[in-house]
Amino acid sequence: MQRLLALACLFVVGASKVLLTGPFTDSPVNNRPIIGILTQQVVDKQMARFGKTYIPASYVKYVESGGSRVMPIRLNQSLAEYEKIFKSINGMLFIGGAVSLETSDYARAARAFYRLALEANDAGDYFPIWGTCMGFQLLTVFVAGHNLLSNTTAENLALPLNLTKEVPSSRMFEGFSAKLLKALSQENITGNFHHYGVTVKTFRGNDKLQQFFSILSTNIAENGAEFVSTIEGRKYPFYGVQWHPEVNQFQWKPNLHFPHSKNAVRVSSLLSEFFVNEARKSLHRFPQT
Ligand SMILES: *[C@@H]1O[C@H](CO)[C@@H](O)[C@H](O)[C@H]1NC(C)=O
Ligand SMILES: *[C@@H]1O[C@H](CO)[C@@H](O)[C@H](O)[C@H]1NC(C)=O
Ligand SMILES: *[C@@H]1O[C@H](CO)[C@@H](O)[C@H](O)[C@H]1NC(C)=O
Ligand SMILES: *[C@@H]1O[C@H](CO)[C@@H](O)[C@H](O)[C@H]1NC(C)=O
Repeated sequence: MQRLLALACLFVVGASKVLLTGPFTDSPVNNRPIIGILTQQVVDKQMARFGKTYIPASYVKYVESGGSRVMPIRLNQSLAEYEKIFKSINGMLFIGGAVSLETSDYARAARAFYRLALEANDAGDYFPIWGTCMGFQLLTVFVAGHNLLSNTTAENLALPLNLTKEVPSSRMFEGFSAKLLKALSQENITGNFHHYGVTVKTFRGNDKLQQFFSILSTNIAENGAEFVSTIEGRKYPFYGVQWHPEVNQFQWKPNLHFPHSKNAVRVSSLLSEFFVNEARKSLHRFPQT
């Protein structure tokens, strides 16, 4: 009799789903995330015979290695089209490249997603954005409202990060062991391929940037300028790196300084997992996925 009662209880609890929404369960998780990546216009003549726009494979592999799929998003779509896509994807990766941060088709499309993401997060609809290199620069332009870049050349240079005191309380580096953080601050494991960036002085002197982001790391450029290399939104799940985490796992040109050490690959892998975990908090979906 007692056993029957116990079974009945389990059944009732299971059927009513009371426990699923109770205080002891985590927020809902989306284990089939899809991250959007904007295509870029082909300028290289060698590549032109393959098509007009492209996404470098390393970014796609990077996102996939964290457990997400990628939706390539074309430039020049209507805002209505972007709104529709936005409601189906779970995060955006703004990738590196070399186009105007204010007037290019790429910047216009990225700005549309940035605005949609701001509104969504304000309404409690979690939506993360990650910017790498030019993507990082774009985020600073969107937040500051204008272009604050200056010469911070670090071209084909692998560097350690000068980590700030905000790192221990950051979300981005939460899953890093003390040992790996030490390696990140001492070994040449972040690949830099840029000419422009935001100096620490400019960043700290801009109220909008300062209020929006915490600075997690800085570096010294070839011309001696100290630039911001890693940022994290204080309130929004927006992240930016001036360096290239994806190259550590997925780029192999021998004449370029792509870091491939065990620690370099671990850093890349933890950050792709981190960003995909952020995307798992977004419940947007396509009608069929
Ligand atoms: C977007 O539209 C503009 C203006 O029509 C055109 O010049 C440009 O090539 C288009 N870009 C892409 C990537 O299709
Ligand atoms: C790290 O890179 C710097 C700059 O290129 C170089 O001077 C230094 O020797 C490198 N350190 C190691 C341990 O490879
Ligand atoms: C870190 O900061 C120190 C002090 O400003 C500087 O000497 C060093 O070059 C920086 N390291 C890197 C990798 O930028
Ligand atoms: C940036 O500064 C370096 C060192 O002063 C210089 O060699 C380079 O040409 C400058 N680059 C740009 C894009 O202005």
